[in-house]
Amino acid sequence: MTAATPPASDLRAAIQLRYGGRAAAQVALDEPAAAACCGTDTSCCAPRPTGVNAFSEDLYDLETLDGVPLKAALARLGCANPTAVAELQPGQIVLDLGSGGGLDALLAARRVGPSGQVYGVDMTDEMLSLAWRNAAEAGVGNVSFLKGDIEHVPMPDACVDVVISNCVINLAADKRNVIAEAWRVLKPGGKFAVADVVIRGGLPENSPFSDALRQDLYAWGSCVAGALSDVEYLAMLTAQGFTGARVDVLRGHTASDLFPSGLPDYATLEPAETVNAILERFASAVVHADKPGGVT
Ligand SMILES: C[S@@+](CC[C@H](N)C(=O)[O-])C[C@H]1O[C@@H](n2cnc3c(N)ncnc32)[C@H](O)[C@@H]1O
Repeated sequence: MTAATPPASDLRAAIQLRYGGRAAAQVALDEPAAAACCGTDTSCCAPRPTGVNAFSEDLYDLETLDGVPLKAALARLGCANPTAVAELQPGQIVLDLGSGGGLDALLAARRVGPSGQVYGVDMTDEMLSLAWRNAAEAGVGNVSFLKGDIEHVPMPDACVDVVISNCVINLAADKRNVIAEAWRVLKPGGKFAVADVVIRGGLPENSPFSDALRQDLYAWGSCVAGALSDVEYLAMLTAQGFTGARVDVLRGHTASDLFPSGLPDYATLEPAETVNAILERFASAVVHADKPGGVT
């Protein structure tokens, strides 16, 4: 990421305000979260008909959601289903970075079974309350939600078999810290399998629109402005020591996925076709990598 970005403290404050509002609205009104994280709808009280935005629609099949409390299913704000690709096994310890309303943690808890354990980490109090509430409603005992920043995970070294995450790492101010923490908490032989937004080929250099996008706090909170390129993701994982890193793109996005209420004013800095071509580089993907070692 070369263009200037907002200060980390501003990013954290904006993200907590935004997701705190989403979670509190759902708890207080006992209704699905309004427009989801990903999507730059400035009226956060304007839910799409399903309560879930374009990024988060159609991520989980009905069989997967069978038995999950409706409110937990509707609280999803992700961009893929990391539990479907993480090859979770009974008895494993799983960490979900940025667990939000807890849907992926609940699905992972089901996959690892009673001999396994799932931890969700989130920095937003209202999201943690919502996740605990959803776990209680689901009657799931092998899941815990911890307050913390994914750049400083409140867990000991080498205690986790699999790190999952869903549309959160793009929100972190310093992604290198997140990857270093995932490495630290993973046991040797552990897996990193996260869903995230990536920019295929990155943003163009010398692009006024791209530079303004990187500065846009609202677009950061929408899982757009903070996304890494596929190349950056792979380079960071490899530099940390992970092996077998790969980015599997699941679906590309359009300008209207990313900005459902219309393009921001700074989109006029470049011709419409240039802006659309830049936004079409954004995609939802699953990023895989392995921490070498462990039992052979
Ligand atoms: C887009 S939502 C995704 C929630 C969940 N993974 C899902 O798929 O529904 C982002 C979540 O990550 C949390 N979050 C964002 N940045 C974080 C950070 N640096 N540390 C911990 N949690 C963070 C937010 O509070 C919010 O709950």
